[in-house]
This record gives sequence, structure tokens and C-alpha cells, in this order.
Amino acid sequence: MQAENYTVQDIKLAEQGRKNIAWAEMQMPALLKIKERFAKEKPFKGMRIALALHVTKETAVLVKTLAAGGADVAITGCNPLSAQDDVCAALAADGVKVWAYKGESKEDYYTFLNKVIATKPNITIDDGCDLVTEIHQKHAALIPSIIGGCEETTTGVIRLKAMEQEKALKYPMIAVNDNKTKHLLDNYLGTGQSTIDGLLRASNILFAGKVVVVLGYGSCGKGVALRADGLGARVIVTEVDHFAALQAVYDGFAVMPMKEAAKIGDVFITVTGNKHVIRMEHIKTMKDGTVLANSGHFDHEIEMSALAKYPKRTIRPLFDEYLVDSKKIMVAGEGRLVNLACAEGHPSTVMATSFCGQALACEYLVKHKGKLKPVVITLPAEIDDHIAALQLDALGMKIDTLTDEQRKYLASWQEGT
Ligand code: ADE
Repeated sequence: MQAENYTVQDIKLAEQGRKNIAWAEMQMPALLKIKERFAKEKPFKGMRIALALHVTKETAVLVKTLAAGGADVAITGCNPLSAQDDVCAALAADGVKVWAYKGESKEDYYTFLNKVIATKPNITIDDGCDLVTEIHQKHAALIPSIIGGCEETTTGVIRLKAMEQEKALKYPMIAVNDNKTKHLLDNYLGTGQSTIDGLLRASNILFAGKVVVVLGYGSCGKGVALRADGLGARVIVTEVDHFAALQAVYDGFAVMPMKEAAKIGDVFITVTGNKHVIRMEHIKTMKDGTVLANSGHFDHEIEMSALAKYPKRTIRPLFDEYLVDSKKIMVAGEGRLVNLACAEGHPSTVMATSFCGQALACEYLVKHKGKLKPVVITLPAEIDDHIAALQLDALGMKIDTLTDEQRKYLASWQEGT
């Protein structure tokens, strides 16, 4: 359904969307605290903010937070399968500019990206860096009026650092992904739980007793391995980084090259942020009935382009079977982010901290307007600490404070054995 300021699947879903957004809000008190302050201080008065994020109930709470701060907000998705249609409808019905629906074509994906760009944003918020790259490649004339941007995910930060390296980045970008609070809650706990959630909703497999191969042992991979282990799976980790591999070993997991793991795994979950980590050379040696899923940002961690040449049938929504040399290879969520394609992404409690990061990063950009270089920036530790404090407060937890004596001791060097 289309109108001047939106394209959504069905505007009649708005009431359901509002209920889901209200449920998310109940679980995101830390972000609501910031919203309350923004509503009083109006840090974004007269500004336009464009977002390319997964359009979920949690993202809607961020949108409302920025709008409470005075921003004129426009949003599109950052993955063709992750938009929640009821949430898109609720946003549209409540006057937010929104272009997104679940299952959109690649053509629509870029049409919608260009719709939010056409609002001439002063701040951009990205998850995966498609908005920033589209602006830099095709709309450079808009760059002088952009004070900065924020990036949500590891893959996006990798792309931004490559842009910075080539001196192609033309406005400051805050790597919200690199907040300690983001890594702990979102990458580790969020990906750990929601990846399993997506795989279960798509396939309903039993994890206990299965050999689950986790490709990549960054914060996300650690979370997935932990939860698969908790469900009784035997976990194997594959890595290219010696330190990460060592961590996996000492966390109690088997570590081996993919060439070996491919032959013995029952379930494979990619979380590397890299390309073609599961290739046809691996798939051809896998067991009949093997299940593949990806929880990295883009859909090229599994070599889907090669797999697409084999006969395919859809067993149930978002769960396909490919016939590879008479063996059945099952793929969840078309190889796209399994947690968002097949489930609802990270729980609201998790996204509260990620989006406190986004909200405070936008405020930081406004406060430092004109003073930041066009590089990738990490937020000051005090802001990250403030997010942790807000979340602890939301959980009803209190902590100790240093005594004067302790503060002095930590700042001194004379006292020893
Ligand atoms: N990324 C992962 N989970 C998400 C969610 N629930 N909302 C927005 N972005 C996400």
C-alpha cells in the first residue's frame, strides 16, 4: 500500500503494530528515559534524520525517541526480509515517513533507500552501511548538509573503515556497534538467543545431541556457541583468527578447519561478517539433511549464488531444501540473517541498550557539529558507562561507589607490598 509518505504491506495492520510497539516499550525503560529527556530538551529541533535499520517494534521505539527530540524522521529497512509489516503500518499511520515491507525485492530495497535519501537528512543511521555508501556514490551533493552518521553493526563498521582508509568517507560516522554495552547485550546475548530462535521457528529441530558448527567466534559467534551448547548440542567452532580460536578452545569447544567440520556437522551457523565461508566445496561433503543458517549481516556468508543452481523446493516458509548430488541440504531464511528473517530479531531488552547508543550518538553529533573529522568515531567511554547505568537502573540494580581513600589509591603509585 502506497501513499506520499509511505509504502507498507497493509496499513490495516497498524493496530497490531501499535500493540507490539507498546510491548517493546515496556521492556525498554532505559531508552524511554532518554526519550523523556529528549522531549524536554528537543536536541534535534528542525533536523531531519534518515534511518536504514531493520524496521522492528524495537526500532519503532527508537524512531519515536528521535521524533520526541524534535527530529523529522524517515525510515527504510536494511534487509529485504527483516521488516515487521504491522510495525511499518503503525509508523505510517502515526505520520512517520516509512518505506519497507517484509519480502521486498532488491529493486524496491534501493528505491526505498533513495526515498529516505530524498528527505535530505542531516543525520543518517545505518545498519550495514548501505545508506552511507548510496549517499557517497550517488548523492554526494547532499553531504555538506549532513553533520554525521551512526552505524549499528560490525559489517557496517568494517565497510566504513575501508572507506576511511581510502579517504572516501566524507562525513563523521559513529561506530555505535563498538560500544561495550552493544557488544555485551546485542552481539553476544542478542545474537546468541535470537539466532537459535530463528532456526527453531524455521525448522523446529532439536539441538540436543546435534553437532552444531559455529563459523566465527567474535561476540556474536560466542553467543551462538554458548546457547547451542546450553541446548545440549556438541559445538564445533571454525575460525581464521588465532586468538579467537584459542578462546573457543578454552571455552570448551572443538576447533577445526571448515574442510573437516563440513563432513561431521548437522547444523552450520555462519557469524563471520565475511563472504563465502560456506562454499560448494564444503556443501558437497556435508551429510544428507544438513541444516544451514546465517546470522551475519549479508546473505553471502553461505555461497547462495552457487547453491541456487541446484534444484530447490520450499518445505515451509523460509525453509528450503536444495538437492545437491542426491543429498538434501536445508537452508533457513534464504541464507539471510536468520534471527530477523525467521524470528523477530533480538529481544526488546537487548535493543534498549543498542538504541540508547544510537540516540546518544545522534545527540553527540549535534553537540559536536562541525568539530568532528570525517572518520570512524567511537563514543567516549562515559557515554557507554551512562548506558550501562541506565540499563542497570531499568533492571532495579544498584552498585557501590568508590570511597575517597580508594579513589586516591587508584590515582597513586607510591603504595606497594
Ligand atoms: N537487530 C537485531 N535485532 C534487532 C531488532 N529486534 N530490531 C532492530 N534491529 C535488530
